[in-house]
Amino acid sequence: MDAMECLLGRQSTPAANLVEPTPCDEEILELLRAAMRAPDHGALRPWRFLAIRGERRKVLGDIFADSLVKRDPDAKVEEVEKARGKPQRAPLVMAVWAEITVNHPKVPIVEQVIATGAAAQNLLNALHAGGYQAIWVTGAPCYDENVKCSLGLEPKDALVGFIHIGTAKGPMPIKKRPNPAEYLQIW
Ligand SMILES: Cc1cc2nc3c(=O)[nH]c(=O)nc-3n(C[C@H](O)[C@H](O)[C@H](O)COP(=O)(O)O)c2cc1C
Repeated sequence: MDAMECLLGRQSTPAANLVEPTPCDEEILELLRAAMRAPDHGALRPWRFLAIRGERRKVLGDIFADSLVKRDPDAKVEEVEKARGKPQRAPLVMAVWAEITVNHPKVPIVEQVIATGAAAQNLLNALHAGGYQAIWVTGAPCYDENVKCSLGLEPKDALVGFIHIGTAKGPMPIKKRPNPAEYLQIW
């Protein structure tokens, strides 16, 4: 697959359609080499990745459930169980966050978050190139201080998403994409 074919072929797969096989730990490291190619002002390398697979996804589900209860003590049992089940949808979940350098003289926080987002996107493209499927999701857990703390982040850090990874159960319809001409001005 050439580079443009790869970029133009990537699309997300709903987490519930993702099954094994997933990249092994060694392959993950190889795929993350693409993430290390993200543009990065000040070479801060703000990106951090936590791969959660198998039984450990239950730990993440419990974190989501407990955090929901702390956020909303009136949450219904069904809502709490739904939150608990979220990481079980795909066989591998990659938490991605930006370890923020505060008060950096040249690199504002937004740039550190953008660089981490670019690293996540490079990972999505590398997964696609490697024959895997994935989807980037956030939702309330990404902005929940209890979730962040349970994953080892500090309050200053930014959890940018949970990339759900696997192999699509079956072929996915190809999504129509916007016409770039509608998004471009040329001066
Ligand atoms: C930062 C970010 C957060 C996202 N969060 C969610 C989410 O919580 N749930 C969801 O279904 N899609 C979410 N998406 C969108 C999907 O990742 C995906 O881009 C969308 O379904 C469109 O599919 P495509 O990647 O094939 O264009 C998010 C995307 C980004 C960039």
